[in-house]
Amino acid sequence: MPSSDAFVFFGATGDLAYKQIFPALQNLIKRGALNVPVIGVAKSGWNIDQFRARARDSLMQHGGGVDEAAFAQLLRLLKYIDGDYQEPATFDQLHSTLGHAASPVHYLAIPPSLFGTVVTQLGRSGCVRDGRVIIEKPFGRDLASARQLNETLHAVFPEGSIFRIDHYLGKGAVENLLCFRFANTFLEPIWNRNYVNSVQVTMAEAFGIAGRGAFYDQVGAVRDVIQNHMLQVIALLAMEPPTNTYSESLHDEQVKVFRMIPPLDPAHLVRGQFKGYRQEPGVKADSQTETFAAVRLEVDSWRWSGVPFLIRTGKSLPVTTTEVLVKLRKPPVSKVGTGRNYFRFRLSPQISLNLGARIKKPGPGLDSMPVELSAVESDQAGELGPYERLLTDAMHGDSMLFVREDAVEAAWSIVEPILGDSDPPKEYAPGSWGPEDAARLAADIGGWHNPLEKS
Ligand code: BG6
Repeated sequence: MPSSDAFVFFGATGDLAYKQIFPALQNLIKRGALNVPVIGVAKSGWNIDQFRARARDSLMQHGGGVDEAAFAQLLRLLKYIDGDYQEPATFDQLHSTLGHAASPVHYLAIPPSLFGTVVTQLGRSGCVRDGRVIIEKPFGRDLASARQLNETLHAVFPEGSIFRIDHYLGKGAVENLLCFRFANTFLEPIWNRNYVNSVQVTMAEAFGIAGRGAFYDQVGAVRDVIQNHMLQVIALLAMEPPTNTYSESLHDEQVKVFRMIPPLDPAHLVRGQFKGYRQEPGVKADSQTETFAAVRLEVDSWRWSGVPFLIRTGKSLPVTTTEVLVKLRKPPVSKVGTGRNYFRFRLSPQISLNLGARIKKPGPGLDSMPVELSAVESDQAGELGPYERLLTDAMHGDSMLFVREDAVEAAWSIVEPILGDSDPPKEYAPGSWGPEDAARLAADIGGWHNPLEKS
């Protein structure tokens, strides 16, 4: 597969470009990994100088500062097209700006309602060439709209040229799960229903909706992070080992897990809304959107049958962290006091992989006490940021960390029964762990594990 010889991003004056794309581009240049024209497209009535100023500002605010050498190179590569996505003229201008580029990558960092328009115009104007398209989440609002979006994309791009972003897959910590599972033999004999008691994932955020009210109110926690990020984490925890001999095998294993998860039962869902959410700008005064969701699911496979998998996520919780807790069964008989062994994987903000074990308590008696053995503990120094990683991969045509068509549809099928908002969400106090009702989902597995701020 040829590497992309131009990088085009739509939504170039928007929030995602400001917070993620410019910082990723600067880092790519610093690593010597970007030396092709970078073409921003947007409709803001701006000229190139305003666009450049925006890039600089983005790096100051979100890119860890401006690296003058890298920025000078970015300015040499950067072009800007100001135009309406409905207007063929915008795409004709892109066509001529692309010049002889044979395999441009087109990144759609725009609202999903515009994906169809832009893709169709790209096809009409001859800008696709032997190129690729990168699509941001949310990929549709439900199964039907995801299917429709897939059809729209396939009318112009073959599946192998479509890169659906789930930025969680670009996180080093998430890939670490894959490594930890499949680079170690000790785990395999116990990684199943015979030894594992339960699996839970908590993605907690201490902040609210941070000015994204108009977007978030249309989406809610299930669509925003459960259908994608959280189910991807479950897939990595539950999947069978991918093979070395077939490049699509990771995707195949992901899809197999999704297909083994029965559609979620609304009785196993608790939705919450933090107090004060309805007063946020852009949020409807009678909004039923959930800012918290807890679900309990099963992976109906030979390996996992009967093991509860729980997911909990929310805004305005006590800490910002994502953590997985895999509890093992209790030893059958013990003279020395029992407690469960467990694995605790912290995925963000730091990475840590820990094994909860028991050792003898100092003193005269024969009693045990818990300790944790840490396999990794790092601040991710040297790890690429998720966008930097994913954009690099997309430009090289490596789709391993992107979401394949069948995976996205299978993930929507899982959450489809819980997308409605027939039951009003339960109110919870900002800074709490969400509605008390969520406790019932975890009652038989010893309750929810509340991650600490640091550990
Ligand atoms: C995004 C969601 O996909 O992921 C946000 O839209 C959420 O609501 C974010 O805050 C979390 O990502 P990260 O990388 O900051 O943990």
